[in-house]
Amino acid sequence: MRKGFTLWFTGLSGAGKSTLSHYVAKELRHRGLNVEILDGDEVRTNLSKGLGFSKEDRDTNIKRIGYVCKLLSRNGVIAISAAISPYREIRDYNREQIGRFIEVYVQCSIEELTRRDVKGLYKKAIAGELKNFTGVSDPYEAPLKPEITIDSEHQSEQESLRTILSYLEREGWIPSAKAHATKS
Ligand code: ADX
Repeated sequence: MRKGFTLWFTGLSGAGKSTLSHYVAKELRHRGLNVEILDGDEVRTNLSKGLGFSKEDRDTNIKRIGYVCKLLSRNGVIAISAAISPYREIRDYNREQIGRFIEVYVQCSIEELTRRDVKGLYKKAIAGELKNFTGVSDPYEAPLKPEITIDSEHQSEQESLRTILSYLEREGWIPSAKAHATKS
């Protein structure tokens, strides 16, 4: 059985974690690999339904996602987490628990996120209508040594996707696209 691993996205809301994780998943599935995505917004409607955005609730949410990623990873699946996961300590805890863990920091400035503001949440947070909003009125602790850093402000989605795939190929986590093409 091929060994699984966890690809752990972290970054502010709207930085591109979900979008990128879906691009990566699509490409990996195309290469015949088993992939599951645990998306923050989606997890909060089932596995973490009822949890809010206090530090305690976020930690619970992130530990739950980490636990599921651990189960999947050890059974040959590539588990992809796409939640803000703002606290370094809990991300590092998951790293330790899972072992085969690759952290992808999706970086984007607050200025750009406020410009994009797809969900209209930054405007509300800046106006003080939304308390404890990550990056505005709640902390975000950027990773100190992420395996991969994506600059979603200046890189296109395709460039970001290539950065992630090249890393995974280079480090031997996935077979190269070329190897796959010759096999099939
Ligand atoms: S995490 O902090 O626990 O990792 P998660 O990724 O699950 O967060 O959820 C973040 C999403 O919840 C955001 O993309 C946004 O749509 C929504 N959201 C609602 N309130 C907040 C808030 N106070 N801070 C951050 N995100 C919020």
